Amino acid sequence: MSLWGGRFSEPSDEDLRLLNDSINFDYALYAEDIEGSMVYARALAGAGVISADEAETIVDGLRRALQEFDSDSFELAEGDEDIHTAVERRLIEIVGDVGGKLHTGRSRNDQVATDFRLWTMRAADSMAEELRQLQAEILTVAEGHTDTVMPGYTHMQPAQPITAAHWLLSFFWMLERDLDRLGAARARMSVCPLGSGALAGSPFAIDRQRIAAELGFDRPSENSLDAVSDRDFVADMLYVISLCAVHLSRLAEDILIYSSATFGFITLDDRYSTGSSLMPQKRNADPMELMRGKTGRLIGNLTGFLTTLKGLPSGYNKDLQEDKEALFDALETMHQLLPVVTATVRNLQINAEAMESALTDDMLATDLADYLVRKGLPFRQSHHIVGEVVRAAAERRETLSQLPQSALRRISAYFGDDVAEVFDFRRSIKRRDTYGGTAPKAVSAQITQAKARLNS
Ligand code: ARG
Repeated sequence: MSLWGGRFSEPSDEDLRLLNDSINFDYALYAEDIEGSMVYARALAGAGVISADEAETIVDGLRRALQEFDSDSFELAEGDEDIHTAVERRLIEIVGDVGGKLHTGRSRNDQVATDFRLWTMRAADSMAEELRQLQAEILTVAEGHTDTVMPGYTHMQPAQPITAAHWLLSFFWMLERDLDRLGAARARMSVCPLGSGALAGSPFAIDRQRIAAELGFDRPSENSLDAVSDRDFVADMLYVISLCAVHLSRLAEDILIYSSATFGFITLDDRYSTGSSLMPQKRNADPMELMRGKTGRLIGNLTGFLTTLKGLPSGYNKDLQEDKEALFDALETMHQLLPVVTATVRNLQINAEAMESALTDDMLATDLADYLVRKGLPFRQSHHIVGEVVRAAAERRETLSQLPQSALRRISAYFGDDVAEVFDFRRSIKRRDTYGGTAPKAVSAQITQAKARLNS
């Protein structure tokens, strides 16, 4: 029996039922649905719509239903089209007709909006915890490599030497911004729609401030028409998740490149690599490829849902039921990925020697130009001169440091005997000690800051 059967003379078509029902996935909202109903029952009593005794009977019945859900003994019945219907049906079975008073002034429209917000606030909290763990691992690995020198790239071309810690920590800060965005989204969604009714508000004097506070929201929503169809919080979350995944996809890409045989900068742990069914020598970074690949799916959830929202007229429309699978999938996907990414980072074997031997003299060309600047030349001129040096070295099939000083001096008289000091990767790094730079000293300061964020 459906809850809205009164005006219909025939039951729903079976195919429509399969399309319309959301119980298969919104079952996950049972705890929030029951919590909302408990608070709502007491609010009805507070408004004098039902007696305090009736409210307690309803709350007791809901508590029993909750135990059934928690112990996996809740039995779905025909007509349970969604979690709200199922809980109310069971409540009436348990407490009798008084259970039918619960839905007074309430609609599934304000109910589902409330349940899903509550659920999402909790999901945001647990995602934040997982992100913190990943940050902590990044920090730990970075701390051990403030003195490990590796090539830094722009356009995927060798650019300048950096410390391995600096590379790793760049992802710490991306995640820090993700956490900041997550917190902002969490704060924005802390608005309670319950009491908005189907669209127009409630004719019963329920205390919406109190309902909001009891459910742990910051405040009640300001406009009932907006409240029942506001799914900004879902779009916010899908975006926060997508951008976070984009960051982790870039980390995955770095790990894939650096762990390739050509680079060999890092070696992946056996437990987080996979083999080939044909080629016995292979050690593949499948988890990283899945991180990269699933990012596409997460972005798809965001764009798909925004497309669902874009044409909706005011008020609740059933299109909105699409919100749940999109966000459930996104959060579940992240929940699968994050522990594996975290473990991959934790077990990352950094091959410092391979990193250092990939450094090439041309990565010090900027340092050579800076040398001339220190001798008093404008940078534009020194850049040009070093360009000529690079060309001369290439013509002689020598590296920059192999070029004899006489050849250097033929290009510019500004080159002195002390130019040899430039060809030292560690010295190059050490010099970049401004705030946020790659010098071990600056990176140590960065680590101190990162730790402070982690512990805040
Ligand atoms: N299952 C629905 C959803 O997820 C609940 C709200 C149904 N409201 C309605 N007026 N049919 O959106």
